[in-house]
Amino acid sequence: MSIHFEWTHELSVGEATIDEQHQRLLAQLNAVIDAMALGSGSEKIPEALAFFERYVNEHLAYEEAYMLRRGYREIEEHKVQHQAFRDTYADFKQKFDSGLTPDKILIDMEVFLGEWWLEHIGHEDKKYYLELGVDTGKG
Ligand SMILES: [Fe+2]
Repeated sequence: MSIHFEWTHELSVGEATIDEQHQRLLAQLNAVIDAMALGSGSEKIPEALAFFERYVNEHLAYEEAYMLRRGYREIEEHKVQHQAFRDTYADFKQKFDSGLTPDKILIDMEVFLGEWWLEHIGHEDKKYYLELGVDTGKG
């Protein structure tokens, strides 16, 4: 049995759409872990990359717009981390397109997503929740 990452209430950032987007990232991470355990990693790569693309385009932009709207003080530092995520995504995609061994890409992706989950969502995203609190929709 492989280890899975779990969603808990402590991970909430106080905004429903962002929480839901984070849960989708978690599901993708668990899918990658399952693919590794089953040895069917290569088949999962296109799906994982398609997810990354949506995540980069939708979620990071959504979160940045939210922080801007709510006046989060550390938004610029946070955006630097998001840019690092975008750059890593571009790197995965470029490696995949150039035919690098899919299993190697998958291992790197699992490590990267696991770290992102623990460090970014579990820590950095909590910072804006601690500053801004729950979003009541009133700015
Ligand atoms: Fe973030």
